[in-house]
Amino acid sequence: MIYAPSDDTFLLAECAGRYRGRRALELGVGSGLILNVLEKNFEFVAGSDIDLGALVFCKNRTRADLICCDAASAITPVHYFDLVVSNPPYLPDDKEIDSAVHGGPTGVEKTIHFIESAIPMLSKGGKMLLVVSSLADLAALDRFLANAKIQKKVLAEKKLFYETIAVAELRA
Ligand SMILES: C[S@@+](CC[C@H](N)C(=O)[O-])C[C@H]1O[C@@H](n2cnc3c(N)ncnc32)[C@H](O)[C@@H]1O
Repeated sequence: MIYAPSDDTFLLAECAGRYRGRRALELGVGSGLILNVLEKNFEFVAGSDIDLGALVFCKNRTRADLICCDAASAITPVHYFDLVVSNPPYLPDDKEIDSAVHGGPTGVEKTIHFIESAIPMLSKGGKMLLVVSSLADLAALDRFLANAKIQKKVLAEKKLFYETIAVAELRA
């Protein structure tokens, strides 16, 4: 099922709207709301999703180039994008029952996969914006970032009654 825009989508949209540049990429486009934000400030926008239904839904609602693939796996890593954004699936679950929301046993496995896929795509000085949640193992994510020498800055945070979500800016 296509992920319906929610608090995490809107927090990412608010942060993504502050950035400008030539090329932007979204990993996991869902309904395409974030693509519409990126289109306003970037000359070229691309987005991927493993859910073909999501891309069909987005097709006539965006000028972005849409790619059905795992993270950025179909894109040659040529340091191309000024900004990569993602609201990855982050709910912890041993089984991937819903690929739109389940992010692996600790909730950060897919997030880390998306980061590893995105970093080689970033232009010099390029940044990645990422939604993270207190429901996932953020200490494990921070260990990964430290090992990979990726800097993290929290741009915005929202406390909900069951979790705290945040948007982090990553720089390699
Ligand atoms: C939490 S939803 C976010 C959707 C949208 N960006 C938003 O913020 O509302 C995560 C999205 O990632 C997609 N997704 C899950 N695994 C993926 C993968 N390996 N590669 C690309 N997209 C994936 C899902 O299909 C879903 O559309």
